[in-house]
Amino acid sequence: MGKYEEAYLQSLADPETFWGNAAGAIQWYRKYDSVLDDSAQPFYKWFTGGELNTCYNALDYHVETGRGDQTAIIYDSPVTGVIDKISYRALLKKVSLFAGALKNEGVVKGDTVIIYMPMIPEAVVAMLACARIGAVHSVVFGGFAPNELAIRIDDAKPKVIVSASCGIEGKKTIPYKPLLDRAVDTAKHKVARCIIYQRPQMEAALNPEHDIAWGDAVAKASETECLHVLATDPLYVIYTSGSTGMPKGVVRDNGGHAVALKWSMKNIYNVEPGDVFWAASDVGWVVGHSYIVYAPLLYGCTTVLYEGKPVGTPDPGAFWRVISEHGVKTLFTAPTAFRAIKKEDPEGTHFKKYDLSGFKSLFLAGERLDPDTFHWATNLLHKPVVDHWWQTETGWPIAANCMGIEQLPIKAGSPTKPVPGYDVKIIDANGVEQMNGEEGIVVIKLPLPPGTLPTLWNNDMKYRESYTDVFEGYYFTGDGGFYDEDGYLYIMGRIDDVINVAGHRLSTGAMEEVISKHPDVAECAVVGVADDFKGQLPVGFVVLKEGAAKANDAIIAELVQMIRDQIGAVACFRQAAVVARLPKTRSGKILRGTMRKITDGETYSVPSTIDDPAILKEIEEAVASLGIAAVKK
Ligand code: COA
Ligand code: AMP
Repeated sequence: MGKYEEAYLQSLADPETFWGNAAGAIQWYRKYDSVLDDSAQPFYKWFTGGELNTCYNALDYHVETGRGDQTAIIYDSPVTGVIDKISYRALLKKVSLFAGALKNEGVVKGDTVIIYMPMIPEAVVAMLACARIGAVHSVVFGGFAPNELAIRIDDAKPKVIVSASCGIEGKKTIPYKPLLDRAVDTAKHKVARCIIYQRPQMEAALNPEHDIAWGDAVAKASETECLHVLATDPLYVIYTSGSTGMPKGVVRDNGGHAVALKWSMKNIYNVEPGDVFWAASDVGWVVGHSYIVYAPLLYGCTTVLYEGKPVGTPDPGAFWRVISEHGVKTLFTAPTAFRAIKKEDPEGTHFKKYDLSGFKSLFLAGERLDPDTFHWATNLLHKPVVDHWWQTETGWPIAANCMGIEQLPIKAGSPTKPVPGYDVKIIDANGVEQMNGEEGIVVIKLPLPPGTLPTLWNNDMKYRESYTDVFEGYYFTGDGGFYDEDGYLYIMGRIDDVINVAGHRLSTGAMEEVISKHPDVAECAVVGVADDFKGQLPVGFVVLKEGAAKANDAIIAELVQMIRDQIGAVACFRQAAVVARLPKTRSGKILRGTMRKITDGETYSVPSTIDDPAILKEIEEAVASLGIAAVKK
């Protein structure tokens, strides 16, 4: 039996010993009473009774044990021309001062703090400062529009919001303060204070009644010690897209999260303390939470915080420049970033300019790694290209080639095998387990390992409905896939209304809610269509009300703008067709699956439940009129 198989089987047969051993790497103020508490299924708790502080484990512990002078964060910002290196000691000071600033604003243990920031070190400082005082942070991706931010404000009910004067997206400077103000005005929950980090590229006008500049807040603050929190206390909430316009508040606890993430650094990513680890993502996404901030710092690595793009900042050699300049050992990003590089530099001309001898492996996640991109990256790098599959809900990989346990042969198109702790099964709609080779619904037998979501924020019921009541005894992933004859897992895509656009998880349901608000729209459907570059793109089909006065093109242009304003530019909603009717079942359910197949140019069978099959021809014509093949280029 290989080392991977041994670890995997042990993790399922005796999770308490397995994760109890991993917990030895964490500094506890009080040791937990039990490793796994399964007394309230389907809610599971890890390390109950244990007390720790995640910020202590990520910063203070390293300073106390000799890593104070090691660089904790390399901030590399081609968009501002800044490269800054912050040691563990310096980061600790910044964090403990900002923790003091939050305390001065009345933030106490259990309060929520929303962080709406670009990729600057202060975002990391704010997150860790919350962890230090037991406040629950909720980072909202800077690319979301004010309406999305307002939805999160109303659900998380923050005492304080931390933001910055602007973000920089390639060549564009985006003023954040007006977006924040609009969100704060729209939200029903009233926020006591906004702390704004003034960036020199564009300062914001502050309203002294409820805004305070970061610098002023810190100037008045004193350094603050770590608070003891329970392992089961929430560390953060991250909102992620589900089937509707109301995103799900995924909760992350302190204890299980610290244990799992620290374990993952060696066992999955095969890095050592002191190594330079780079997750080219955004702190607003789960990858940013776990692998820009928490995991590398818990493990004593140097993490790279990159404020730039894979291309255009300034060229498709940007990633190779960062890797060689900072001695990056492991890069983690989304396949779409590599497709962007491949598109602009297919021959790897820029790659050849840099010395990447210290680079060991590339990890990709966030969407399916298509075999073309896998082969291109492998041929260019001559290093392992590791696809791994995970979700915001799990917070760390469900399936991967666990490079630090045993490197298994890599197969294009597969994220290899389930990671220890995850009992992944493929079932059909009746819950019957599928044979290898048969595609089905991907579920994970409960309990999930530590670090995964214990519940949804203030919504145990929604947690059950979305994840554990679908198939009793299992966590429902929302993905479809299969195992091959060698037990390799293949994840083929979502089977719900979630789509993945350039590695960004978005809800077609949320887009439909926005479109439905247009006064001329009677009903609509948004489906995700395959795109060679961004993985998927949303396409809308709208039925207009009788007597709509405007021309169809004008209405579509308004819909495009509405999605941009209310969800954000990241939705990349640019295509829609006006149709006379939508295909539905006899009971009135829109046949989105069939529409998606038609839009993707796949062969489809006419569903037996369809009300009027003739409508499918109309959809085919609408798709042809959109020229979607041209969009895919
Ligand atoms: N703040 C404000 N706007 C943002 C933003 C942010 N943080 N992030 C993206 N946007 C905007 C972009 O400027 C763009 O606006 P535009 O329509 O006015 O041009 C729009 O949202 C779409 O962005 P995106 O889909 O990212 O396209 P892009 O062409 O700017 O970049 C990639 C394409 C592939 C380079 C980029 O998506 C990328 O690096 N993706 C990696 C994904 C990733 O990190 N995923 C996280 C999980 S690993
Ligand atoms: P997010 O919650 O944003 O991380 O998105 C999670 C979803 O992205 C998953 O449910 C999958 O649909 C998709 N995904 C993430 N990683 C992979 C992968 N390696 N292969 C296939 N799909 C993936």
